[in-house]
Order: sequence, then C-alpha cells, then structure tokens
Amino acid sequence: MADHAYITTPIYYVNAEPHIGSTYTTVVADALARFHRQRGVTTVMQTGTDEHGEKIAESAREAGVSPRDFVDDVAAKFRATWDSCGMQYDSFLRTSDPRHVEFVQGVLARLHEKDDIYFGSYEGLYCVGCERLYTEKELKDGLCPDHLTKPTEVSEPNYFFRMEKYKDAVRAHIEKNPRFIHPEGYRNEVLSILKEDLGDLCISRPKERLSWGIELPFDRDYVTYVWFDALLNYLSGPAILGREQELWPATLHLIGKDILKPHAVFWPTMLLAAGYPLYERLGVGGFWSSGGHKMSKSLGNVVRPLELRDKYGMDPLRYFLLRDMAFGQDADFTEEALVTRLNADLANGLGNLVSRTLAMSKKYFDGEIQDVRPIDPADEALARAFARARAELDAQIDNLAFHRGLGAIWEAIDAANKYVADQAPFKLAKDEDQKPRVGAILHNCVEALRVSAQLVAPFLPESAERIREALGLAPEKFARLDLAWGAAFETGHRLGGPINLFPRVES
Ligand code: MSP
Repeated sequence: MADHAYITTPIYYVNAEPHIGSTYTTVVADALARFHRQRGVTTVMQTGTDEHGEKIAESAREAGVSPRDFVDDVAAKFRATWDSCGMQYDSFLRTSDPRHVEFVQGVLARLHEKDDIYFGSYEGLYCVGCERLYTEKELKDGLCPDHLTKPTEVSEPNYFFRMEKYKDAVRAHIEKNPRFIHPEGYRNEVLSILKEDLGDLCISRPKERLSWGIELPFDRDYVTYVWFDALLNYLSGPAILGREQELWPATLHLIGKDILKPHAVFWPTMLLAAGYPLYERLGVGGFWSSGGHKMSKSLGNVVRPLELRDKYGMDPLRYFLLRDMAFGQDADFTEEALVTRLNADLANGLGNLVSRTLAMSKKYFDGEIQDVRPIDPADEALARAFARARAELDAQIDNLAFHRGLGAIWEAIDAANKYVADQAPFKLAKDEDQKPRVGAILHNCVEALRVSAQLVAPFLPESAERIREALGLAPEKFARLDLAWGAAFETGHRLGGPINLFPRVES
C-alpha cells in the first residue's frame, strides 16, 4: 500500500445545495479515507466548494445578494451538511479563500513567464452550465449534451493556456499507466479525445463582463474562471496545510463522468506545464437518477441527503449508495430499494447476528465470554471465511468496486448466521454437559461480530462503533485489524446487552 493517501472529491458548485450526487462522491471519498486510516496509512481527504464564475454570479444576482454573501452562505451549508453526515474530511477548500487565490495567481504568473499562457482571440460555442467551450462535434443536435441547452456563441480576445503542447505527453502517460483512469471505458474515451485536435484552453474573461473570478497577475483587466481556478484546488489545499511535499501527487481524484475531460485532459496538461508530477489515479463515477428520471428541481425529484439520514440513519444511506451502484456505472435511486437493502442486508444480516449473539450470551452466561475451546472444524471454517472476506475486500477496494467489497463482507456475515443455525447453541444449551461447547460457539460468534464490525467500519462507521461498545472492546484493540481469531477477548470478559442496530422498516 502507498505510504500516503490523498483523496479528493470534486469541489462542488455553490449554485445548488448538496444532493444525492454530491453526497455519493463524498461518501465514497470518506469511506476510502477511513479504509486507509484503518490500515495505518497517513490519509488526507479533501472536499470543498467551487465558488467563482458566471454561473455563481448569476445565482447570486437571482438571490438578490452579493456574490461574496451568496458563496459564504452556500459553502457553509455544504460544510454543515457534510458535518451532519459525519464525513471526516481533513481539508475543506473554498476557491474564494485568499490563500487559494494567491496560489492560483502564482501558477498563472509562472506559466505566463514561460510563455505557456498567451493572449489570443477566443471564439466558439460556450455552455455556461459546464463553463466550457464545446466543439460542434461534441454537441447533440446543436445542444450541450449534459444540459440540453443551446451554447452561446462567444468571440473576444482572451488569454490561453498552451494545452496542445502537453497533449502527447499526457497521452503517452495514460497509455503507459493502465491504472491512471478507472474504469477502463473512461480511459479509452480519454485516449480517443487526446487523438483529436484539442486546441488551447481559454482561461480568462474580461473583467468588465465577469468580475467574480481571480485577477490575472499580469493583466488586471482579466480574471481567470472556473476550470483553471478550480482544478488547482487539489494543489492549493495541501499547500495551505503546509503539506504539499508530503501529499502530492494525489493518490485518487474522485469525480463524476460529466467532468472527465477537465480532469483527464485539462488538469494533467496543467500539471505538466507547472512542473508537477501527475496525480496517481482518477476514479470516474456514474450518475444517480431518481425514480428512473434525471434529477431536477422542476421534476421535484431531487434527493436530499439530510432528509434520508433523518428518516433511515446515515449508515443505511451509506450502505445503499455503496452497495447499489457499481462504481463507474449509473444507478437509480428509490426509497423502496434503500428499504429493501436495509431490511435484507442490515436488519436480517448484520443486525440479526448482533442481536442473537448478545441475547444468547446474556441468557446462557450472563454476558460473560467463555473459553474458545473446545474447537470444532466449523469454528476454523468460520475464521477462514472472515480471513477470505478481508483479503477479498482489500482487492475489491483497490479496484474501486465498493459493491463487491461489501458483498465479500456480507458473505462472511451470512456464513456467521449460518454457523449459528448449524451449530444450534440454543438447542445444545438444553443439555448441561454441552455448556462448554455452547460457550465456545458464542465466543466464535462474538469474534465474527468483532471482525464484521472492523471490516464494515469504513463504510458503516456509526454501526461499527455501536457494535464495539456493545462488545465492550477497547478502541485500541478494535483498531488492530490483524488480531488473531480468538485473541481479542479474555475468558470472563463482559459483553453488553443486546442492541437493535437496524430496526426493520415496513415499506
Ligand atoms: N465544480 C465542478 C467540479 C470542479 S472539480 C475541480 C462541478 N461541480 S458540481 O457540483 O456540478 O458537480 C460535482 C460532482 O457531482 C461532479 O462530479 C458530478 O459528476 C457529480 N454529480 C452531480 N450530479 C450527479 C448525480 N446525479 N449522480 C452522481 N454524481 C453527480 O462539476
């Protein structure tokens, strides 16, 4: 495993409030960050807000407030949402932060000095929704493929970044590094984009038209806007923390498929020009629709994370998002599907294992852990099922296949529930001579719970913590993933009473 993990989400535009799309990417980043921290890797997770540009200025105008007040308000809402959702980010980067602004101006000045930024004439079809120019070929029936709106024709003198100059080097890098863009379909898409004529990247706007941007240090009549400003957040964040050397290159940028080109083409060319090594990996996620339709305010089907958290709890929401979408592909969100997962996997699976183990321990031994011996081959098979789950989980997470990683953990949880049914301690308990074996079976069940809780901790942190408490296990012991089976609990250790981890939801 790498010596550090620096994981980023896109910085979210402040013209909309957090929804299931932004929540998904943030949950993925948070789960991965927790996963690495749990394995002893120095980890930084960064998220934040993208606050400059025409789109934001327009939204502020509509709201009748200044851009500054507008962005302060929405950025605070993002932060508060992620805090309420328990996201453990280490850095929250706002592009209106003066330290970010200064960082961007430093890069602009250097690139201008080496003539990688020049003054030219800007002409083309511009989509304000995407804040970028489109080529005729990229449009669908003359419309922006994402927003289905007609781009505006623009023509004005502006500053350009020499993207073409670095294009071949980026292509060679991608060809040499199969892991650079994941999943592979997006890698192929980028390689074909890089075969075409890209042109250079317009990075400015005259200040008289757009004042809500970052002033170019070499021409105060112009500002830089969205992409040149926003992408640099991934570097300015670590610089603000004073940890640029340690954290760069980023180990993983997580994004949605709509912003593939800026991240896989603009950003690496910018990094090469500015003399930085390229980030290690780009993870490209699919889109959530809602009830079979694209999410939109006008359809009234925007899914809000806090409403779901209040209704079902954060862990069930996290579980659903990670389990029902194969990372990279699209998926559909419905509350029915969430409830089905909650009842089947959480309540009947993990929740059942927790409640029956604790209830039987209480009933037969007053919550006291017994000797793990006598050992039966079935006990060893159970221990092996959890060792397999751990290995499979690590491999699947490396592949960003969260749904499969969780599937691997649940195979072991199912094996544990089956172990209880097969070993039938509730039957053996009727025979006083079988008491030592009943004690051993329950010790194995407690071990299964301990390891289940450790494995699910990055994905279901609140539930893992509740299980840890119910088991009466010290945090230091819980943090150790490599604890041998049977070594976590001493004979005589006291367990807590049964808990109802995931109450069933009637649909
Ligand atoms: N500000 C830019 C990103 C700059 S990063 C240097 C931006 N912001 S955004 O708020 O519009 O989108 C942020 C992320 O949310 C994008 O990765 C986008 O793909 C993702 N999603 C927006 N709607 C989504 C869904 N319905 N489903 C999944 N992800 C979606 O783009």
